Amino acid sequence: MFEKLQPAPPDKILALLAQYREDGRADKIDLGVGVYKDEQGETPVMRSIREAEKRLYEEQTTKSYVGLQGDKAFCAVMGTLVLGDAILGERMRVCQSLGGSGALSIIAMMINRARPNATVWLSDPSWPNHIPLLSGAGLKPQSYPYYDAATGAILFEEMMAALRGAEAGDIVLLHGCCHNPTGADLSLEQWAAIADLCAEKGLFPFVDLAYQGFGDGLEEDVAGVRLMAQKVPELAIAASCSKNFAVYRERAGAAILVSNDAGALDNAFSQLLSVKRSVYSMPPDHGGAIVRIVLEDAGLRADWMEELEGMRSRMVTLRRDFADALRRASNSERFDFIAEQKGMFSRLGLTTGQIDTLRNDHGIYIVGDSRINIAGLHHDKLDDLARAIVAVSS
Ligand code: LMR
Repeated sequence: MFEKLQPAPPDKILALLAQYREDGRADKIDLGVGVYKDEQGETPVMRSIREAEKRLYEEQTTKSYVGLQGDKAFCAVMGTLVLGDAILGERMRVCQSLGGSGALSIIAMMINRARPNATVWLSDPSWPNHIPLLSGAGLKPQSYPYYDAATGAILFEEMMAALRGAEAGDIVLLHGCCHNPTGADLSLEQWAAIADLCAEKGLFPFVDLAYQGFGDGLEEDVAGVRLMAQKVPELAIAASCSKNFAVYRERAGAAILVSNDAGALDNAFSQLLSVKRSVYSMPPDHGGAIVRIVLEDAGLRADWMEELEGMRSRMVTLRRDFADALRRASNSERFDFIAEQKGMFSRLGLTTGQIDTLRNDHGIYIVGDSRINIAGLHHDKLDDLARAIVAVSS
């Protein structure tokens, strides 16, 4: 059996992380995988999460199965965190997932049951794992123009023109906020125009929401998806708790379905649970339970929001200061877009050769499409980093 297989192509982001860990240089800098780091370069357990783990340890009396949907109270608080009062509870169903990727996968497999080999439209560029994940579920990826590397702006007219060419029943994958890998986010007006187009043409919006709270704020980052939920008859959302609760390894997330048709929604939700049963059965409980404890307790929730806001504002400051350092080093406005973009990522617009030189000669690790993790920057190294980037790229 195994001799029939060829090695799988490595995932670019995870391969880079492995390479970074092997590098013995003390002054190496990891701007690769999307993990938040503080000024000391650490990814600490959040205070509220640590407290929630203590409470869970004290209160939990059994490790028996929870059920296919997962923790129902977690599902309820996640539905509210994402959609607020934008829609009535009966228009929404939520189940716990294995992080954001797990939510993307089970939703994609459920969609493939409804519409085998359906076309799913992705931004060009998008998170590198979107294509393997969605095509692995049976869907057919196709790209829409999204990002102008020369200006750092969104190619909105081109995006809309491509989506006008989509067929009824096609899926449109959107990044809820903090677009990965570009940091270029849709405005509310653009969300509204896409929602109207989806409603008019019968396109199905599928929102990947992995960074709520990292862009403009916890509520601001979901304004677009909430607007969309009000305007379209149905949609799906894959929400991750990995980054905003810093529970990466716990694999906590939620798959959210919304529909105006209660019967169709129940059927879709039962198919979603049946997909889970067929691939891994019930979700792990720990990550969801600690997130639920934080969100249900007013004190812990306030503390979590404060810490999350600290993470967000550190990234906003790093963006501004790094753009300033690059302006000084390059004596140009070439990298000013970094200060305007949102969330963890921006693309520097470097070639593969330049990225290799940064890694080999300077110990600076950047993903091959020149995406940098803003949260991996250190304030005291911004000028050195800017000089190295300008040196390799001029
Ligand atoms: C990233 O884009 O770096 C993160 O979403 C982590 C991952 O799994 O790729």
